[in-house]
Amino acid sequence: MNEKYLLAILGSPHTNGMTATMLNYAIRKAEEMGYNVTKINLYEKNLSYCTGCRACINTQICVQKDDIQEIVMCLQKCQTILLAAPVYWANVPAPVKNLFDRLLGTAMEETSAFPKPRLKGKKYILLTSCNTPYPFSWIFGQSRGAIRSMDEFFKTAGMKRIGKIVCSGSASKKEPPKRTIKKIESLFPY
Ligand SMILES: Cc1cc2nc3c(=O)[nH]c(=O)nc-3n(C[C@H](O)[C@H](O)[C@H](O)COP(=O)(O)O)c2cc1C
Repeated sequence: MNEKYLLAILGSPHTNGMTATMLNYAIRKAEEMGYNVTKINLYEKNLSYCTGCRACINTQICVQKDDIQEIVMCLQKCQTILLAAPVYWANVPAPVKNLFDRLLGTAMEETSAFPKPRLKGKKYILLTSCNTPYPFSWIFGQSRGAIRSMDEFFKTAGMKRIGKIVCSGSASKKEPPKRTIKKIESLFPY
């Protein structure tokens, strides 16, 4: 049987926060369903800022030597990526944005017209949480902003979204609501 590789990335500084809890539920279920899971805590990684040199457009990997090489290897090996990141200013936290910047040439090739995807065939799942309660989180573009930013990277890379789960109003919650946990667990039906 082919092994199913899942790369789970935590893009929150809080290892016991709402976003990490959502990710842990997802990982537990994925492992139960036979996925081989690699977990990366982005805040523990040594990643310099993208310098905008664009060399990666040709090399397909960043020329700066730090933890990006390990992340690219995991990205290329997995079939599915699970990214869990909280909403910061209606967007993603800075380390998540920097990861996308550092992966420019890994994700896409430049042509004279539109970018050509380099990670076609892979799937992705997004988990996020924010303090603004639903439906205001969506209406005022809070969780929508973070999801849009993450979609921009993965879609340009040619990947297909198979799930998106938002936990709104997280300030008043200790745990994700039961229906959110159910949704997370239904992400891995096989
Ligand atoms: C710097 C910063 C910016 C934030 N910006 C927003 C925001 O724009 N909208 C929102 O609803 N919540 C915002 N929040 C709240 C977080 O999204 C929320 O507390 C989230 O559940 C944190 O997840 P965590 O448990 O992974 O830390 C912000 C929090 C921080 C620290």
